[in-house]
Amino acid sequence: MNMNLEGGNILAMGGDELLEAQSHIWNHLFNFINSMSLKCAIQLGIPDAINSHDPNPMPLSLLVSTLQLHPNKTQFIYRLMRLLTHSDFFVIHEEGYMLTNSSRLLLKDNPCAVSPFLLSMLEPAMVEPWQFLSIWFHTNDRTPFETAHGKPFWEYLGNKPKDGDAFNAGMGGDARLVMSVLLEKHKDVFEGVGSVVDVGGGTGTMAKAIAKAFPQIECIALDLPQVVADLKTDLPNFKYVEGDMFKVIPPADALFLKWILHDWSDEECVKILKNCKAAITSNGYKGKVVVIDIVVRNKKEEDSMETQLLFDMLMMILVGGKEREEKQWAQLIKEAGFGGYKIFPIMGIRSLIEIYP
Ligand SMILES: C[S@@+](CC[C@H](N)C(=O)[O-])C[C@H]1O[C@@H](n2cnc3c(N)ncnc32)[C@H](O)[C@@H]1O
Repeated sequence: MNMNLEGGNILAMGGDELLEAQSHIWNHLFNFINSMSLKCAIQLGIPDAINSHDPNPMPLSLLVSTLQLHPNKTQFIYRLMRLLTHSDFFVIHEEGYMLTNSSRLLLKDNPCAVSPFLLSMLEPAMVEPWQFLSIWFHTNDRTPFETAHGKPFWEYLGNKPKDGDAFNAGMGGDARLVMSVLLEKHKDVFEGVGSVVDVGGGTGTMAKAIAKAFPQIECIALDLPQVVADLKTDLPNFKYVEGDMFKVIPPADALFLKWILHDWSDEECVKILKNCKAAITSNGYKGKVVVIDIVVRNKKEEDSMETQLLFDMLMMILVGGKEREEKQWAQLIKEAGFGGYKIFPIMGIRSLIEIYP
């Protein structure tokens, strides 16, 4: 016990406890170094350079020469690689670097690459709102994003084509990843379905993948004009529709809403879901709504819990949405007038929720 310092209970810790608490804080304080180091490795092309040497491990000297750095900077690559190897993005084998499953998802040519999403989320404009978080708590602004940039997220992206394209590219990689998991684990979701609308479907990656995998299904990607107005396709069973899901959603047997409802408040979700119900029950046919989003599990011992909570904060900061527990999902579904739902926890930290009229 530290007796000769003032502070009473505040210092009621032994030396080991003090150091442990300090280290816990430092770890949190410097978490951004993990994300920024990973961003740097992607920008330098490190995963692709190591992959170009596959199946052999890539020695540091070869990695450094492949990256074509300023000669005075080559000595620093080891330091970056040491951190990223510690974080399991690379492994050392026979004195060379090799990729892990995580860094394979950072390769340029990987259709499911997570790097475009990572780069778009770490753009200065996306990180800036975090500097405004405590200020936002004293304002009436909907999001820290608005406090920082003076306009809502979707409007901002509409006015900044470069940021919009980066965001849509990030969504595209995720849509391909989700689609490949869906086809492997839950193909039944498409059984008996003749038409699909991917609501807020971005640049159409998921709806196009469905159209290709199931040529008998008519597919639509519905999104804002700023996202789909200039897009063309020659797939016979796929088309883009410009629209607003708060106004009307085209009728279909199945509506997909991937990473949509977590962007919005409860009131807004109920509006979207009511429009969904109208779309799947028009013509007297009863279809279904397929939501792909997080169902917060609230189990502290699971690693996925932290990722779920990080996404929840991200939604609060960027768009004013949130991640929901099952009882909150059940409430929304009931308020929108649906009869039932089923949760399939098949998507890692996310789940697939089928909602029935
Ligand atoms: C988080 S992204 C998800 C994109 C896609 N579903 C995916 O997961 O890859 C949300 C999408 O909703 C779209 N969106 C936002 N407001 C909308 C509205 N009022 N009507 C239709 N789409 C909208 C955005 O343009 C964006 O493409």
